[in-house]
Parts: sequence; C-alpha cells; structure tokens
Amino acid sequence: MQVSVKTTDPQASAADLLALPILRRTRGGSTAPTLSPTARALDRALGGIVSAAIQSGDFRAKAGQALLLYPTKSSPVQRLLLIGLGKESSVTAERLRRAAGTAVRRAGSRKNKRISFWLPKLRSVDRDDAAQAVTEGAVLGSYRFDHYRDLQESDPGTVRALSLFLENEGKSAPASARRAAKAGLVIAESQNLARDLSNQPGNELPPAKLASEARKVARETGLRCRVLDVAELKRRKMGGILAVGGGSSRPPRLIVLEHRPKRTRSATICLVGKGVTFDSGGISIKPSAGMEEMKHDMGGAAAVVGAMRAASLLALPVHVVGVIGAAENLPSGTAYRPGDVVRTASGKTIEVLNTDAEGRVVLADALHYSRTEFKPDAMIDLATLTGACMVALGPWASGLFGNDDNLVEKVRKASNHAGERAWPMPLFDEHRRAVKSTIADVKNTAGRDAGASTAAAFLAAFVGDTPWVHLDIAGTGWTSTAHPYHVKGGTGVGVRLLLELLRGWK
Ligand code: BES
Ligand code: MN
Ligand code: ZN
Repeated sequence: MQVSVKTTDPQASAADLLALPILRRTRGGSTAPTLSPTARALDRALGGIVSAAIQSGDFRAKAGQALLLYPTKSSPVQRLLLIGLGKESSVTAERLRRAAGTAVRRAGSRKNKRISFWLPKLRSVDRDDAAQAVTEGAVLGSYRFDHYRDLQESDPGTVRALSLFLENEGKSAPASARRAAKAGLVIAESQNLARDLSNQPGNELPPAKLASEARKVARETGLRCRVLDVAELKRRKMGGILAVGGGSSRPPRLIVLEHRPKRTRSATICLVGKGVTFDSGGISIKPSAGMEEMKHDMGGAAAVVGAMRAASLLALPVHVVGVIGAAENLPSGTAYRPGDVVRTASGKTIEVLNTDAEGRVVLADALHYSRTEFKPDAMIDLATLTGACMVALGPWASGLFGNDDNLVEKVRKASNHAGERAWPMPLFDEHRRAVKSTIADVKNTAGRDAGASTAAAFLAAFVGDTPWVHLDIAGTGWTSTAHPYHVKGGTGVGVRLLLELLRGWK
C-alpha cells in the first residue's frame, strides 16, 4: 500500500472515499458526537449531511459504528464514511487501528482504491502512535489471501493508497509522524507476510519450503539466513525435531534468521517459533473435524519470519535472531510413537506419552540451540502450543508465561500497546514437577489439568537460566469470526507485539 501523511484540507484530496472519525465528547454532563472545527467546515461544505446524520440519531459515534454517506453537493468527496471512535477519553491506538480497518473494508468492497483518513487530535493517544496505528489498520484491513483463486471475474478489489491527514499540524506533516506511518506500514506488511505463511496449506508449505520462504525474505531485506538440514540436525543430536519430523516424507529443518545492527555492542534477543507445517497429531491422531486448521500450526514461525523482516527493514539497533523448528507431524511407519524416549540436543530425554504434544518436543531443541549458540539476553518463543490455552483465554488473548517477571511485564506492556493482548498465566513449581517422567527427564504431557501451564513448564526445562518468555498463540493465531482488520484464517499475531518490544528495547 502507498501511504502518505498530509496536513492540507482533506477535501482537497482526490480520494474515492474519505473516512471521518468522530468522537463522543462529554459537556455539561451529557455525552454526544462532537465535530471538530475541521469536521464542521467539511460538514458545511457538504450541505450539512454530517450533522443531519447525527441529529437523526442514526449516527451516534459509538466505537466501531460506521455510516457511509454520498454527498450530493458538488465536492471532491465522493463517499464519506463516518466512523465512531466512542468516548474521547477511552480512545486507544487499537480503536484507531480498527477504525482504519473498517474504512478500508468498506471502501474495498466498493472497488475503491484510494482512501483518505482524517485523524483528529486526540487527548488519549500520542499523535505519532496514532499515525502508526491507523496505517497498520489500513494495511491489515486490505489483506486478502487469494493465491489459489481465479479472480478474473469476481475480483472484489482492495485499497491501494492511504492518505493520512493530521489536524492542526501547520503546513507540512511533522517528520516524526511520517516516520511512524512508515514503521506502521513495514510492520503491518510484515504481519501480512506472516498471515500468508499461516494460510498456506500443508501440501504447499513443507518444512523445506518454509525454509526457502525465510531465505527469500532474508535476501530481500539483508538478513543472514542459515538452514540446518537432517544431516546437520543429526550431527547436532537434535533428537526432538528429528522425532517429530520422522513420520513425514518431507524432512524437518531448523531455520535461523539473523539481524545484526550497525552498532556492535547491543543486546541479543532470540525469537523462537514453532513451525509445525501440519499437525495431524501423528500416531496419537487428532479427530478429523477441524483438522484442516492445523495447517496454521506454524503460526509462531510465521510471526518470527515477519518480525525478522520488520526488524531488518527498520534497521533496529538490536541484535535479533529468529530460530524456527520446522517439522511435519504425520503418522507413518517411520513416525515416533507413544512410549518412545527421545534424546534432545541438550542431553535431556523426553518420554513421549502423546505424539500430538509435538510442538514442545520441537521447541526443546530450538530453545536449546538458541540459548547455546547465541547466549541471548532474552528469549521469546511463540507457539500454537495447546488447546488448553485456547479454552482458557479464547481468541481474546495469547497466554503469557516466563521465568523472569521483568521480561514478562515488558512483553505484557508491549502486547497491550500493540493491540495484541497477552495475558499472564502461572508457571508454578507444581507444573514443573508435573512434567517429570519416571523413566526420562521429562514427559511431553501431564494430562488435562493446567495443560497450558504444564506445556510451558516443559519448555522451561530447556531454557536454563536465560530470561525467557513463552507466548501460547493457539487461540489467537487463527480467526474464524468477522473483525475490523482480520479475515478468516491466520492472524499473523505476534509481529506487532514483537516489534513494539524490540523497538523499545534498552
Ligand atoms: N497444535 C496443537 C495445539 C492447538 C490446538 C493449536 C488448537 C491451535 C488450535 C498442539 O500440537 C496439540 O495438539 N496440543 C495438544 C496437547 C495434548 C496432547 C497434551 C492439545 O492441546 O490437545
Ligand atoms: Mn499437536
Ligand atoms: Zn501442534
């Protein structure tokens, strides 16, 4: 998408649609939709259609409300979309992101390619944060996954250009607002890349293809890329990844992406992703209903690729390493079995009680590799790890676990700011004890009780004393319901959160 930041009169822009966000303001005890001076001028120029919509009671400017108007007076504004932002004091960056997503959706479905979004001055959101959020919402809202469709006749079209107008900023837009919009563009496009990877079906994206996609991103953005094949995994004794990938004719890979900043002395952060390209459950096979969704069991890996892309394009002054354990979990004559004991690269052994608890077995090697190879200051893993986390938090938050309260709090703050909620979950000594095995060091399931926490406790056994956070994105990596900026399918969750964290890293 093309994004430009302007301060001139929004009426002067030749867009197909002008999105006009409207706040509810409290005055004298009552709260009502209120037009700012610029909006009032626009309303007058258009013969009062905005105030008419408000006075009729049809448009109340509640958060999420949208009303499309067609001005009849001759004006450069062909379509005017009123968007409610709700009460002024409760406006957040996420609300703006959704408003922009709504604008793009409404426009896109009408084959409008260019939209203008008019951003009022806000008391509760910093101007540059707002510019970033609106850009993100627009770019995310324009996303389609249409690689496998013949669209010649039924192309619904999507928005290609966004003009962002800032109120009361003088003649030219401040450089910092332009930079913020640019960052929003890079971050949201990276999230769209993560969505694309998540949405690719299992047949089209085996581990080696995920690796070549990562390599492509590396080439395009200047990241280093290294891919460990089966021979190398064997040499490094990564029995976990090898066990999970062993049932598929399409062998596993360990994928490493590295962003090195110009400045040499900087913190090192490892981002570790679960990249199970399809999860059938293996010998402990899943029920067939809904199994197709397990093509997105590499959503954590997708977020890591997306975040690495953005880290490089934004030239972050941090050393960031992405590590992905990629494997396909299938039942076959060469598959690992319940009862197996596998030896991981760390030397620790895992008793496999259920081959469907495969993500943690893959991550055991990926986490150990990250820790020993890069000696990071912090390690963050993202994984579509447990149905239990989905039951606990639904699609409304990712599960947040860790061994370092400071880091957990940093990630929680970043998630909140980025509009990708992550919610703290417990990691007790009891959970760690629950995954101890009688014949090996750990076992890969501890039953139904606290399934998300015991999965996290399993991972904790492979991170040593490195500050570490685990994000369980089983409930947030995929959506099947309508949303202002998501479509059914992979969400690319984690990219915005990680970038917020990395950009603020000290
Ligand atoms: N990939 C699944 C978890 C999952 C479920 C992700 C639904 C997204 C949506 C994971 O590999 C899995 O199968 N977990 C099992 C673990 C159990 C066997 C201990 C689960 O949650 O049922
Ligand atoms: Mn599984
Ligand atoms: Zn899985």
